[in-house]
Amino acid sequence: MSDLFLRACRGEPVERTPVWIMRQAGRYLPEYRELRAESDFWTLCRTPELAMRVTLQPVERLGVDAAILFSDIMVGFPAMGLEVEFAPGPKLDRPVRGRDDVAALRRPDPGRDLGFVLEALGSIRRELAGRAALIGFGGAPFTLAVYAVEGGGSKNFSAIKSLLHGDPECARELVSLLAEAQADFLEAQVEAGAEAIQLFDSWGGILPPDLWEEFALEPAARVIERVRAAGAVSIYFLRDGAHLLEGVARTGADVISVDEKLPLDEVAARIGPGPALQGNLDPAVLLAPPPAIERRAADVLAAAPAGRGHVFNLGHGILPGTPVEAAMHLVDTVARLSARGEEKDR
Ligand code: CP3
Repeated sequence: MSDLFLRACRGEPVERTPVWIMRQAGRYLPEYRELRAESDFWTLCRTPELAMRVTLQPVERLGVDAAILFSDIMVGFPAMGLEVEFAPGPKLDRPVRGRDDVAALRRPDPGRDLGFVLEALGSIRRELAGRAALIGFGGAPFTLAVYAVEGGGSKNFSAIKSLLHGDPECARELVSLLAEAQADFLEAQVEAGAEAIQLFDSWGGILPPDLWEEFALEPAARVIERVRAAGAVSIYFLRDGAHLLEGVARTGADVISVDEKLPLDEVAARIGPGPALQGNLDPAVLLAPPPAIERRAADVLAAAPAGRGHVFNLGHGILPGTPVEAAMHLVDTVARLSARGEEKDR
């Protein structure tokens, strides 16, 4: 239910805990694999009708309270001058390595360059008709910088770290450009129909607090400010960031989404008063039998502090081999368990 999700994000009273699943539209769903067998990933993203169908699949199959646009954090890279292929992980043909490469990057015009995303959002919002909230998303500036500089996934992050340490001025310029580009894009997503925006800082956690503050927190806060001004709820997702929680409220996000490394009551204590929480079941729990899923989901609900907004989710994306029945069971379990306690109905 769309309103339930948005109220929980704003920390308002709810009759049960809303739930959605990161990467809920994807390879674990047979109906996704069917469409994906006929079209490559970029074609799905760039064809509004197909992106809409994939976005709606988990809403219909699981009954989640929010739909997340089917797209990718790197969807805007080609318009900046960075070609990306998926093989199956992302791979850039010419990564950004220095000042000349940064100077050559373009700031896309969302209406002209990413109109297919905006069109998809408009159709999805109409099609949902309030059944679930619509989440748009983008990569946080630092996480996008990691992919731009590394040219794909990485084990030791040597390219991005050597840029941060060796030419911090160039790194600052890169994250600033990415922040402006993301803010333009996310603002356009809100205008096109997104009711909430999730900013994925999947790699923010590789940094120590001082570098994270300068190269991740500060640019993410600028993006979130533009999302707020555009009128949407904002969610900041940080992975492996237990050492950074004291600073996350300064992103200004309405919701902080965390992985499963710490229980939510401890997360809340470290963050301090303010934002609602999203998370944080270990995605691997969905590979276990139903009683284990029930037990672990109950643990997450019990650790969520009373008096604070909570959106149930996994700590990270659903694993490709997850049985659909496990995801369905999780959504039903969260609805059943969280509706029981009157304490949630504040
Ligand atoms: O959540 C959803 O269902 C919406 C769609 C979505 C995708 N990617 C689809 C996708 C979202 C929100 C993303 C975000 C994303 N993409 C992130 C941030 C979240 C995170 O996991 O930390 C990142 C880092 C990426 C980059 C990316 N895209 C990688 C590393 C990969 C390959 C490996 C993988 O996880 O699949 C992709 C490809 C991708 N993005 C696929 C999907 C469904 C698989 C494409 C396929 O079908 O082959």
